[in-house]
Amino acid sequence: MSERILVIDDEKLIRWALRKNLSGAGYEVLEAEDGESALTILEEEGADLILLDVRLPKKSGLEVLEDVMKHHVQIPVILMTAFSSVEGAVDAMKRGAHDYLVKPFNHDEVLLLVAKALDTTRLRRELAFVRQQQQQQYGTGNLVGKSETMQQVSRLIWKVASSAATTVLIQGESGTGKDLAAKAIHFSSDRATRPFMNITCSALPESLLESELMGYEKGAFTDARERKQGLFEVADGGTVFLDEVGDMGIGLQAKMLRFLEDKTFRRVGGSRDMMVDVRIIAATNRNLEQSVQEGSFREDLFYRMNVIPVEMPPLRERLEDIDLLVCHFIDRFNAEFHKRTKGVSDAALEVLKRHSWPGNVRELRNVIERAMILENKEILEVEDMPAAVRQLDAGPASNSAAAAAFVLPDEGYGLRRMEQEMVKQALEKTAGNQSHAAQLLDISRDALRYKMRKFGLL
Ligand SMILES: Nc1ncnc2c1ncn2[C@@H]1O[C@H](COP(=O)(O)OP(=O)(O)O)[C@@H](O)[C@H]1O
Ligand SMILES: [Mg+2]
Repeated sequence: MSERILVIDDEKLIRWALRKNLSGAGYEVLEAEDGESALTILEEEGADLILLDVRLPKKSGLEVLEDVMKHHVQIPVILMTAFSSVEGAVDAMKRGAHDYLVKPFNHDEVLLLVAKALDTTRLRRELAFVRQQQQQQYGTGNLVGKSETMQQVSRLIWKVASSAATTVLIQGESGTGKDLAAKAIHFSSDRATRPFMNITCSALPESLLESELMGYEKGAFTDARERKQGLFEVADGGTVFLDEVGDMGIGLQAKMLRFLEDKTFRRVGGSRDMMVDVRIIAATNRNLEQSVQEGSFREDLFYRMNVIPVEMPPLRERLEDIDLLVCHFIDRFNAEFHKRTKGVSDAALEVLKRHSWPGNVRELRNVIERAMILENKEILEVEDMPAAVRQLDAGPASNSAAAAAFVLPDEGYGLRRMEQEMVKQALEKTAGNQSHAAQLLDISRDALRYKMRKFGLL
């Protein structure tokens, strides 16, 4: 569908020339010779862009601009003005005009400006749409759970979102919904229209993480050919989500503390303090207090971040949420895979409620997803659940089935070797598919690639 441009000018010759030029470029062109008829046309036919002459009979161009801003604020207006009144045009831009053209103009210039204005508005519209979708998708309503603990968490998140708090620490095992909670905080806060930037601290070596967060100046290191903005700058007014913050290097922790205390930082290689307004949401699946005791995490940074702690409860402590979560995921995958599954059988639900869910909600999601991909059933049965879930766990008392099944290796077989072995096995099992391997290991793809590089597997 071609875009529609309304030309408002009392000079017939100018309208004719613009029509010829614009329709030659594929636009649909409407004409009006004064403000009155322009507004009628806008009411009846609408337009994607307006070219408006400043000097019109009856209502002046500026008055017409005012009307347009009042009733059709989403339509960009380009003013056409004589050289002598450019200052007026600049003033008009302050009142909402998108841009201006100085008469006499050449036709390429007109086309360029029109295309640019249409692009900008399209992007703006798309951005507004995406943000609205994100807000729906990630608002606090998306944290499913009727258990008292989950209700408490939801209430806390809601309170935090609308507070002025600039630092939040989310703790919880893997798969308990830390990502979801961070997004819920951002998208239900008044920062929602500003960026939400997300980085996993364990995925990058310390120096790279620093330059990702704080940016760098040209020449700061060999590859720094241009100055680059870091996430703190890009997210100004919004939120930066630092996932797996427990893995942040000790040197960067010092800079982080300074940032949290006075909101200032320096780009790598920079000598100037920069100041921004971002909310930091940090998440970790480690016990940070223990990391503090072990000396791998700064105590002062921990206390600074822990002002508002949000604790995501493990799924095994709120088994009463399983019904709702199962329904939630069935709805979601019905939509995604075009299936018509209605629910799970009573027996299957029993089985799900007996499992100890070491992988928490993520594990439950995967179980439902797998069953729905493999089967085309209205009701999912016990046999549609994976063996690991069907097996009777020792009960909720055992912390984690995986951990219980774990045998400590012989001496000399360090954690590093084990990690390397697991990465290798995951890659073998998935025939080198990194996304799947990362899923198996329950780490991000970036983290996997980092480990692969570390072990020389890449
Ligand atoms: N309370 C919840 N309600 C609905 N979905 C959830 C909930 N908690 C977690 N999930 C889902 O489980 C998966 C893992 O959650 P995520 O936020 O990535 O966990 P974490 O960051 O703690 O590892 C995601 O698909 C998420 O949408
Ligand atoms: Mg996560």
